[in-house]
This record gives sequence, C-alpha cells and structure tokens, in this order.
Amino acid sequence: MKILGIESSCDETAAAVYVNGELLSNVVASQSIHEKYGGVVPELASRAHQKSISSTVRQALEESGYRPDELDAVAVTNGPGLMGALLVGLSFAKGFCLRHNLRLIGVNHMDAHIYANFIEDKPEYPMLSLVVSGGHTQIVHVTEPFEHTILGKTRDDAAGEAFDKTGKLLGLPYPAGPVMDRYAKEGNPKFHRFPQALLNEGLDFSFSGLKTSVLYYLEKVREEEGEVYLEKHLKDICASVSEAITGVLVHKLNRAIDQTGCRTILLAGGVSANSMLREKVMKLCDGKNLSLHIPKMAYCTDNAAMIAVTGFLKAKRGEFDDLSLKPYATQQV
Ligand code: KG4
Ligand code: ZN
Repeated sequence: MKILGIESSCDETAAAVYVNGELLSNVVASQSIHEKYGGVVPELASRAHQKSISSTVRQALEESGYRPDELDAVAVTNGPGLMGALLVGLSFAKGFCLRHNLRLIGVNHMDAHIYANFIEDKPEYPMLSLVVSGGHTQIVHVTEPFEHTILGKTRDDAAGEAFDKTGKLLGLPYPAGPVMDRYAKEGNPKFHRFPQALLNEGLDFSFSGLKTSVLYYLEKVREEEGEVYLEKHLKDICASVSEAITGVLVHKLNRAIDQTGCRTILLAGGVSANSMLREKVMKLCDGKNLSLHIPKMAYCTDNAAMIAVTGFLKAKRGEFDDLSLKPYATQQV
C-alpha cells in the first residue's frame, strides 16, 4: 500500500509518503505569519495553505522517488481543525485522487496524533493515550485499532493553549510552548505554586484558571517587587507554570492507569515534545513497569507522516472514503 498523506488542519502545511510500512518522506511547511498576532489567524492560515500545498506535496513525492500514478491512496485530515484550512488540504486531495485515479482516506487529526506512535514503533493494545496539543487535551482508552473511548478531556483551554497563553503573559513569542520548555529547564519548578484545577476530581482537565492566576501573580509581583525581579526570575516562573501544567497531566494519567489497568501508555500531540512532561511520564511508567511510547519530536507536532500512517492502518482494514468526504471543525465523539 503506497500512501500520500496530507495535513492542513491548523498552521502547518504538510505532506508525506508512506510505502508498505516505511516512511519515505515527511515535509512540513510552517506558517510564520501568525507570530506577530500571537495566535493562529484562520483566514491567513487558509491563504498560506493555498500557497504552499502544491509545492509541499511535490517535494514529498520527489523525496520519496514515487510518481503520483504509482501511489494507491491519499490520506488527508478532514477534521477536527480550522474549516478553511481543512478545506484546502481536502480539496487538493480530492483533485489529486481524481486526476491520478487513487483511493481517498479521511483521517481524524486526533487519531493521527495517537497513531504517530506507530511510525517507528509497534505499541500493543489496549493502550492509554495522553493526547496533548494546542487544541485538545484528552486521555483516550484505545482498546483495539480505532476503538477509542475518551476517558477525560479539558473543559476549557487545552494544555498547549495553557503554555501559549501563560507564555504570552510572560512576554514569550508565539507559540510559547517550546520557549517555555527551554527556559523551564534552567528554572526552579518550586519557585511559585500555581493552582492545579480539578486535581482530585475525575479525569477531566481545566486550564483556564491557571492563565488568570499567572496574570494576577505577575501584576502583584510587578507592583511589589518591580519588573527587574520578574525578569530575573523569568526562568523560575516558566518552570513553575510548567510544573503546574505537567503535574496535573501526569496525575490524571496515573489515575486513568489505575482505573483501566492498561499496561501500554502513549504520549501524543505537540505538547508531548515537552521535556518536563516526558520526564514525569517516564518516571511514572518506570515505577509501574509499564510500556511507554513517545513519538520522535518531529512526529509530535503537526505533520503528515502521522496522517499517512493512520491512512495506512485504515486502508489495511478496508476503510476508504469517496469524494463526498466532508470536513468537520470539532471533534465528533
Ligand atoms: O499538535 P500540535 O502541533 O498542533 C495542534 O494540533 O494543536 O500542538 C501545538 C501545541 C502548541 O500549543 C505548542 O506551544 C505546543 O504544542 N508545544 C509545546 C512544546 N512543543 C510544542 N508545549 C510545551 N513544550 C514543548 N516543547
Ligand atoms: Zn495537532
């Protein structure tokens, strides 16, 4: 099975070629246009996808050494994501399938973050996946391929959003997650204790209160100690915010492990690139002797390799779509 994967759900235009279980190319065109707005501007994202989709796909094909007519199928993200952005990738994929007589496979972006773990690895079912990205935060019980139960999810902001929004308050550039991660490594996570919402309640998350508490904390410290003190302790504050976010994620993951008895744990989504989270989850799984799978950095953030591999797994089950495939903005449960 030779598959071209296409991803355009947010601010990354990506294409990858996956042939018989081997990833041959993985091209990502990131959109820097959003930096100055401090967040993704949907209309600008759609236009940027439109501009780079052809060249991104062409490059992925060239690097793979395959011609379009040698492929079997195109796997494309059809949700969840920004509607205009999704439409660019989906329309392109449909046109490409028509032109080259290929099968079409619609892929759920969140599923793809989970199955990114299958690009270089073979995790065993049943699995428990902590899916943490800029738009979602979920604990998903995967009992067998594509049998997913969401055990817990965020009631407001996603974990990535919590990093990005608190980072913005600290004056970090968008997306703040990776910068916060870098600074946190050199700071003291116990410098200040930020709140961890719903810690002792079920498996749901809430991160919107953290943003407010960081805002009030900064206002208070600025007034009492001055700006220079804040600058001096920026890395300590980054470490303390990261501690609050990753602490609650791992606490809930631990609870889900105890509830389900699952022995295979997966990290998925952009925030799984976070070093403090990785360290904590590794420690947890080591302590419980569980099998932990974390994708390579390049497969944690949005990419098309994860779309292609998910398409491959669906194709193996005979799951194809026709040209009436529609995009959807929000997760369908
Ligand atoms: O999965 P992803 O690339 O896109 C979505 O589907 O949302 O995730 C992007 C999110 C952003 O919020 C970004 O700040 C966060 O992942 N992120 C990180 C790190 N790398 C990316 N957050 C914390 N630490 C990181 N190292
Ligand atoms: Zn994503």
